[in-house]
Amino acid sequence: MRNAAITGWGMAVPERVLSNADLARMVETSDDWITNRTGIKERRIVGPDDSTTSLSVAAARQALAKAGLTADDIDLIVVATCTPDQFLVSQACLVQAEIGGNAGAFDLGAACSGFVYALAVGSQFVQTGLHERVMVIGVDTLTRFVDYTDRSTCILFGDGAGAVVLEATDEPRGLLSTVLGADGAGYKHLYIPGWGAFVPESAELFPEYRPYLHMNGQEVFRFAVRVMGDAAAEAVEKANLTFDDVDMLIPHQANMRIIDAAARRLALPREKVWVNLDRYGNTSAASIPIAIFEAAETGKLAEEDNVVLVAFGGGLAWAAGMVRWGTAGVCRDPECRKLGLAANEPERVPSGQSPDAAVMEIPTAGNG
Ligand code: UT7
Repeated sequence: MRNAAITGWGMAVPERVLSNADLARMVETSDDWITNRTGIKERRIVGPDDSTTSLSVAAARQALAKAGLTADDIDLIVVATCTPDQFLVSQACLVQAEIGGNAGAFDLGAACSGFVYALAVGSQFVQTGLHERVMVIGVDTLTRFVDYTDRSTCILFGDGAGAVVLEATDEPRGLLSTVLGADGAGYKHLYIPGWGAFVPESAELFPEYRPYLHMNGQEVFRFAVRVMGDAAAEAVEKANLTFDDVDMLIPHQANMRIIDAAARRLALPREKVWVNLDRYGNTSAASIPIAIFEAAETGKLAEEDNVVLVAFGGGLAWAAGMVRWGTAGVCRDPECRKLGLAANEPERVPSGQSPDAAVMEIPTAGNG
């Protein structure tokens, strides 16, 4: 059985930090309230020189370097985002304009669940044999659409990008199971009206017609607690594994209380759950690939580890998957790469152990 191993990973966040104390000077809120209700302490937000493209490109370059590849080696780029820099052309083509190559390139929209959806799509292209190497990017700059007078939403979001490279292997690596779902009827609990092809004649006729993110926090919270646990458990079962086999849970970083509920459902102790929302807030489609990057770079992921990814968000959509970490069976020989073959005796690359993990620098869009 052909699989799609994760062989490269990258991330980028803007340099500008927005702390809870900064927000308390902008709206009626407090560090205590935000910390207790969400777990978030600070987030990175785009400045005038940042863009969805600049963050994606920095993450993509880093992922290519990690995989030991160039853009010419990539057959397909899939970008998951709900905040592309423009609608024509795709965000994926804007990334390719910077990194080079002639891979197929398209975007995928599933809001905060987008990266897991895109990982499923990218993995399928490798598993079917249509492509050898696929780049999957999760990126969002939702703070461009946040109303900074609305305390119920502006405290939550940050910006960022994460990228992974997928390569063919005959070993059981990469995405071993996938769970995708959506409840479109609930779309108005989390959406950004406007900025699409539908433009009402008069904005007065549509009082809600503002290019800002609208959210019914309590509804989304209830939905998230339900689907995160269920989808994660289903992903484990579909991979024919048990909760005991799970080495790490990487959940979408939206709210600590939602993450705790998902971890309880899988009976996982906190140390097996990757949490970074205190530093980045909710970065939408970027939250899971950023967490993958951090876990890999700090040596927390070892060959054959079973990692559950689970996300929820606008749609209302959800997605989960069981990833078997590592690069066993991935061909590192240029000749065999050219032929598109998985090697019989692969030269294994280290799976993310970094000797200076403890002093890892946070990559920003400028240093990718
Ligand atoms: O990727 C998906 C993105 N979306 C989410 O993940 C959202 C999921 N929902 C949540 O995380 C939570 O619902 C929130 C963090 C958004 C809100 O927490 P909550 O515990 O559901 O609070 P609430 O909406 O029930 O509001 C409780 C009180 C209200 O005041 P009253 O009516 O009790 O007087 C709010 O007006 O807290 C007030 N409040 C705030 N107070 C201080 C709402 N936002 C704030 C704030 N600071 N930032």
